[in-house]
Amino acid sequence: MGKTKTHKKVAVTGICGGIGPYLLNELTGAGHHVIGIDMNKLDIGIKVRKADLRKMGEALWALENAEVVVHFGAIAELEQQANHVTFSNNASATCNVFEASRILGIKRVILASSVSAYGFCWASQKFPPRFLPLDETHPLLGQDCYALSKAVCEEIAAAYNRLLGMDAICLRFPWAVLPQFYEKWFLDAMHGCPDDAAWRHLWAYCDVRDLAQAVRLAVEHPQSLGFKTFNVIADDHVLSPEPILNLIKSYFPQVPVKEESLQGDATAIDNSKIKKILGFKPRHTWRMHADLEKWRKSRANS
Ligand SMILES: NC(=O)c1ccc[n+]([C@@H]2O[C@H](COP(=O)([O-])OP(=O)(O)OC[C@H]3O[C@@H](n4cnc5c(N)ncnc54)[C@H](O)[C@@H]3O)[C@@H](O)[C@H]2O)c1
Repeated sequence: MGKTKTHKKVAVTGICGGIGPYLLNELTGAGHHVIGIDMNKLDIGIKVRKADLRKMGEALWALENAEVVVHFGAIAELEQQANHVTFSNNASATCNVFEASRILGIKRVILASSVSAYGFCWASQKFPPRFLPLDETHPLLGQDCYALSKAVCEEIAAAYNRLLGMDAICLRFPWAVLPQFYEKWFLDAMHGCPDDAAWRHLWAYCDVRDLAQAVRLAVEHPQSLGFKTFNVIADDHVLSPEPILNLIKSYFPQVPVKEESLQGDATAIDNSKIKKILGFKPRHTWRMHADLEKWRKSRANS
């Protein structure tokens, strides 16, 4: 009997961004061949195909020979560019990535979506979640061009799944934390993070190495997945050392909560779907790096 081929040729768009090198490390570490793609070429240790994915010809050339696409190339937050530029870059690059995949016969695209698509993160008119913990069934209620771009990218993914039956996997990431951020994050939590930063993120985060693990699991999953959305979230919350239920009760007293899922350090954004279907296991937590003694002393003196 022939051996099942597990190593894949994986095209990673946006590879020269902040998260790209962690994806490269995780995927090559597992034996996959990575084809790096970005409109801004940086030296990241592999040859990068320079392509602006808003241009269909460049998208087709860049994705040639790939078996799986991991699409991270995007304007990754609201305030980096004018609103309309953020929307049109993200939506048109994503549409071209799916259309080029159709033409090239690529059967699985993994899309970097965002929990910002739920709408809280950049909302000008603040609003509470409909329920907590928030899971993938929560409606996408964005008011801003970044949230809207991610919601539309997910719609594009769903449409190509309907058209071709291809795997279109949307990974909704929260605040992606690089290892070197831990010191600052802990200090922010210790001294009380600004209200806005905390509730807008629903105290959610994911270590970038765990985020890369989720991508690898989506690349390697042996069965067809169809169209799926997954929250990719650490098991614990951040930005405050308080128990999550206390935070929720003080910020969102009216929101219906499933208290049994929100004990202690639990996360307010449910990650059980990706654990169950892809076998995701977050391995890093900011609490490993937290100097709790320093925090206790600072509280006692305040
Ligand atoms: N960093 C986070 O906290 C976070 C959270 C949720 C989701 N995400 C998503 O993850 C992805 C990567 O995030 P990041 O933090 O590495 O972003 P980043 O801004 O550091 O990198 C994005 C990369 O995409 C490239 N790019 C943008 N538009 C492109 C285009 N039209 N054609 C080709 N390349 C293009 C840029 O040149 C850049 O190198 C994005 O899709 C972002 O929306 C990030």
